[in-house]
Amino acid sequence: MAKKLYIKTYGCQMNAYDSVRMSELLAPMGYEQTDAPDHADLVILNTCHIREKAAEKVYSDLGRMRDIKQSRPEQKMLIGVAGCVAQAEGEEIVSRAPYVDLVVGPQSYQHLPNLIRETIRSNTAAINLAFPEISKFDQLTEATLTQGSSAFVSIQEGCDKFCTFCVVPYTRGAEYSRSVRDVLEETRKLVDLGAIEITLLGQNVNAYHGIGMDGKEWGLGKLIREVAKIQGIKRIRYTTSHPNDVDDELIAAHGDIEILMPMLHLPVQSGSNKILKAMNRKHTASDYLVVIEKLRAARPDIQFSSDFIVGFPGETDTDFEDTLRLVETVGFTQGYSFKFSPRPGTPAAEKAQQVEEAVLDARLQTLQNLLAVQQEKFNKTKLGTTLSVLFNREGRLEGQMQGRSPFMQSVYVDNGAAYANRLVDVHITGAYANSLKGEVISTSQRLNPQQERVAHYG
Ligand code: SAH
Ligand code: SF4
Ligand code: F3S
Repeated sequence: MAKKLYIKTYGCQMNAYDSVRMSELLAPMGYEQTDAPDHADLVILNTCHIREKAAEKVYSDLGRMRDIKQSRPEQKMLIGVAGCVAQAEGEEIVSRAPYVDLVVGPQSYQHLPNLIRETIRSNTAAINLAFPEISKFDQLTEATLTQGSSAFVSIQEGCDKFCTFCVVPYTRGAEYSRSVRDVLEETRKLVDLGAIEITLLGQNVNAYHGIGMDGKEWGLGKLIREVAKIQGIKRIRYTTSHPNDVDDELIAAHGDIEILMPMLHLPVQSGSNKILKAMNRKHTASDYLVVIEKLRAARPDIQFSSDFIVGFPGETDTDFEDTLRLVETVGFTQGYSFKFSPRPGTPAAEKAQQVEEAVLDARLQTLQNLLAVQQEKFNKTKLGTTLSVLFNREGRLEGQMQGRSPFMQSVYVDNGAAYANRLVDVHITGAYANSLKGEVISTSQRLNPQQERVAHYG
């Protein structure tokens, strides 16, 4: 009989991708995925360590898993912790939660089948936190599970940047890029399995420098040109990029490749040069603006989103105002902002001048309000226009379908079931803070190609 596997994913899209790969790896052992832990034979929490809240959530969820495990001793349940908390805390997890059977770091998933056999045999926790010589990608099986119409492909892992607030270089290790051949093969496979939108992933994705078919190192711009040639791909995105690694080749790709979507998530973290320096970002606010301008020159309709940290140690009111100014100057149309969270082992956690909680709260609120205003303003500019939307989720109401515009706006339509997993033109009839509403333009209403060309240039 098939065994049941429950995976819960926290954190970034890299973890989401890894969860799919773990599930594929465990299928030959007879594990089938289930969406609730109650009857699971194996539970894996694929964890995130980026902020304190994310890491603490894991322990409360582990407590729930222990209760399930203890409530049904007749069906043995294995509990595994994977991801960045596993890497950061290692054996401490087993000391704090002795009912955990497996601890596996993000670079060691290929060992999961062996670790499972080992823990069953020895009845003690099996732990693997190695950063192996041979990358996990070269040891994983090929993609076999569909990710639907919008799929992720990890092309790069790890980070060598060491921003002073960040755990990623410690939890994911040094930068590593998969070969161009590997990336293309996996992408083709996912397209065969139904993907029309591909998002290339990496902790620092534009630091990509994989070996190409010519034996030379390729950058992300060159890789995207090859990916764009794959039959059936209608949209390409990539995330998360670093402003210092946006090179001319990548900018040119934005200008030349229509299906490279005009929305870029380019974290800046702060608008204050003093804080950027203390963060070890190695760019100033004006360096960032230069990158934005070059991208806009290449692709005039491009929009930007970003990550921000408020209350980094030593951040004054003036520094914070610099961030607000930068948000306005760039005109970000989406943004994610976080209160600084001191992470064990990172230089910023040791600094004096930690900002008070009340100040953190107030700054976060102010920044989020400004970002929300800009987002809504941009959404309103789409009223009455036509946007292409890839519908890949059911909406909250019966018959509703939800999807994404080229600019990552959430768009929904009523009675949209027929458009599931399709890219369709939508006439926008409502624009709100976080979403757009519209009506699908039926094929008969659509202009013929000749008229469309006139409409486009007219
Ligand atoms: N590689 C990406 C993102 C890494 S983590 C980059 O270079 O920007 C995602 C976001 O979490 C970061 O952009 C940052 O804004 C936030 N973050 C990371 N460490 C944090 C910390 N210690 N406290 C608060 N936010 C943090
Ligand atoms: Fe973390 Fe991103 Fe900085 Fe790397 S570049 S250390 S992942 S914030
Ligand atoms: Fe979190 Fe690790 Fe991703 S810390 S954000 S899961 S790289």
